Amino acid sequence: MSVASASTTKATAHSAKAVIAAPKVPNAAAIKKEYGGQSITFIGDSVGGGHTRDMALAKQFSKDTGITVKVVPHPTASDASYSQLARVFTSHGSSFDVAMIDVVWPGAFAPYLVDLGPKLGKQAKLHAAGIVANDTVEGRLVAMPWFGDFGILYYRTDLLKKYGYSKPPTSWAQLFSMAKKIQTGEQAANPQFSGFVFQGNSYEGLTCDSLEWIASSGGGQFIDKGKVTINNAKAASILNLFRANIGVTTPRGVTSYQEGEAHTAFVTGNAAFMRNWPYAYSIAADPKQSKVVGKFNVTTLPHGPGGAPVGTVGGWQLAVNKYSKHPDAAIEFVRYMTSPAVEAFDAITNTNVPTIPAVAKMPAVVKANPYLKPQIATVARVTRPARYLGTHYNEGSKIIYQGISQILNGQDANSVLPSIQSKLDRLVK
Ligand code: GLC
Repeated sequence: MSVASASTTKATAHSAKAVIAAPKVPNAAAIKKEYGGQSITFIGDSVGGGHTRDMALAKQFSKDTGITVKVVPHPTASDASYSQLARVFTSHGSSFDVAMIDVVWPGAFAPYLVDLGPKLGKQAKLHAAGIVANDTVEGRLVAMPWFGDFGILYYRTDLLKKYGYSKPPTSWAQLFSMAKKIQTGEQAANPQFSGFVFQGNSYEGLTCDSLEWIASSGGGQFIDKGKVTINNAKAASILNLFRANIGVTTPRGVTSYQEGEAHTAFVTGNAAFMRNWPYAYSIAADPKQSKVVGKFNVTTLPHGPGGAPVGTVGGWQLAVNKYSKHPDAAIEFVRYMTSPAVEAFDAITNTNVPTIPAVAKMPAVVKANPYLKPQIATVARVTRPARYLGTHYNEGSKIIYQGISQILNGQDANSVLPSIQSKLDRLVK
């Protein structure tokens, strides 16, 4: 495994960005001979340090292979990115060659994607089998795993200490009560300060966050074993607890927060707790971007009454557009981007979760990604209902996040859940 460039650096969580360079492309001469001079477009990342990473990797790939890569960041909201790609696919467009694909999309986009099995099947074996299975539709490997994700809790260690707490909260009720006490104290000097931030905007991220609240309260995963289950008392009760906290222990504006707004509040020192994905660790630990370096830690998310902590499965894959004019050059780019060396680079510089188990065990990767510690990484993972919704996933998720958004904006969950339930029922049947 060629991970030397990543493992031999002096990278630490606090200085990673400065010292590590994009890995060289293995077998570059052969690729150049075949495809040098071709030009491809990559619809890449826009959250956290994702675009900077994509630019660095594309530049290295172009330098080594002579294949030009134009990097276009996708819209920050996953569902908006879905709609953008869907428009190109359904018109059989070739305006992009490679795109990042959310973990919940392979079923919906499979007909428009190149089967990567023949060329990348061997490399796929390095990746976690569960994600490869997720990216395999009717025997075709329609995408390669790129990085994983799961929800975690970020908390301010200095403030917990200051307000007399010896450990982070384990229940949502505890989180809100700690958030309230810390917020009240901190707001005296900083009116901007909030107890808790998360992804409360009406978009895909809210489907992810609310799945964690509900599943960790024993309220199911929206659709369980093919049956819509969202309309239940445990779901209603935890959703109403969140509703009661909007503008109380959260900023009022949390109902428009996506990942970026949440991490900005946290790294500028304006929040005690944050729910986010692991990428935010690299930003909070970067002295150039963060005021909380050395003052925060991560752990599993809290749970509801009688429940247990969970983390929603997220993550991104790389796929090749079936209508691409340069599918082979595109596949070589995907081969490079999903290689162990690049995953190690991404895990160290951007604290994204490697999908290659051997990379996740590398000492430099473990050091930069404290959430990979077994106590956090073995948390129960819950999945969005993509397998039941198939090509209707985006429609179904929209029904979920729009309904949850109504609750966060003031409606009683008991009056909203029945309508989410019946709309989902219609989709599933
Ligand atoms: C992260 C996850 C992705 C999810 C999105 C929601 O990017 O990796 O799976 O859909 O957040 O905002």
